[in-house]
Amino acid sequence: MTSEKLFITFEGIDGSGKSTQAKLLADALSQLGHDVVLTREPGGSTGAEQIRALLLEGDPERWSAETEILLFTAARRDHMETVILPALEKGQIVICDRFADSTRMYQGLSRGNLRGMVDALTKLTIQQEPDLTLLIDMDPNTGHSRAKGRETKEERFENFGVPLQEKMRAGFLKLAEEFSDRIKLIDGNQDIRSVQAIVYNLVMGVLK
Ligand code: ADP
Ligand code: TYD
Repeated sequence: MTSEKLFITFEGIDGSGKSTQAKLLADALSQLGHDVVLTREPGGSTGAEQIRALLLEGDPERWSAETEILLFTAARRDHMETVILPALEKGQIVICDRFADSTRMYQGLSRGNLRGMVDALTKLTIQQEPDLTLLIDMDPNTGHSRAKGRETKEERFENFGVPLQEKMRAGFLKLAEEFSDRIKLIDGNQDIRSVQAIVYNLVMGVLK
């Protein structure tokens, strides 16, 4: 196994292909002999998966945006403590499906401007940003219909509808400019293999 401490995240609106691409990347890197941990948020650790159910199921109006920020951050802190940091300390490559950029967007933008609260809590309690973030950009209608097609109980955010996805897409594009050193934009309106090739080349560029 090759030791190559690296923290990679996937971001983008619901249904943009993050989970598909995260898995393909993890498989490709493992085949090359890298030691890879594939994880996701909200969740990724026992405690955080329990918080995930509170966040993704039930009435869309169940939590205020402020309460959501605290819940997502609590889940992230547990995930950091028990999964991400131990893996990075062992020199593993961590691939995480969503991370703090999702909170900057979904909670920081969707109901008022709470970006300052997200950034302050992230700085205080998480203290780690990814080395590389792959932002999969996607038409909100296509993303939303793909996400709704999954038919799970975890539809709280999808039930806010296409307007939320439009807002999130615009926000993510701005975020890519703000953090242009680490966020790489990928056009997700292509077939799975084409997106996979772009992801692979971007990661190889960072690994070299
Ligand atoms: P996300 O994790 O961003 O919500 P998923 O990877 O779960 O997205 O993909 C949502 C759905 O869209 C899945 O059914 C997946 O097979 C499909 N999908 C993913 N990428 C593509 C693509 N490039 N073209 C067409 N369908 C895709
Ligand atoms: P996820 O399972 O990644 O959904 P999808 O596969 O549809 O992209 O995440 C579930 C929902 O959680 C998604 O709608 C976005 C939301 N979310 C936030 O609102 N804030 C966050 O910090 C994170 C990590 C996710």
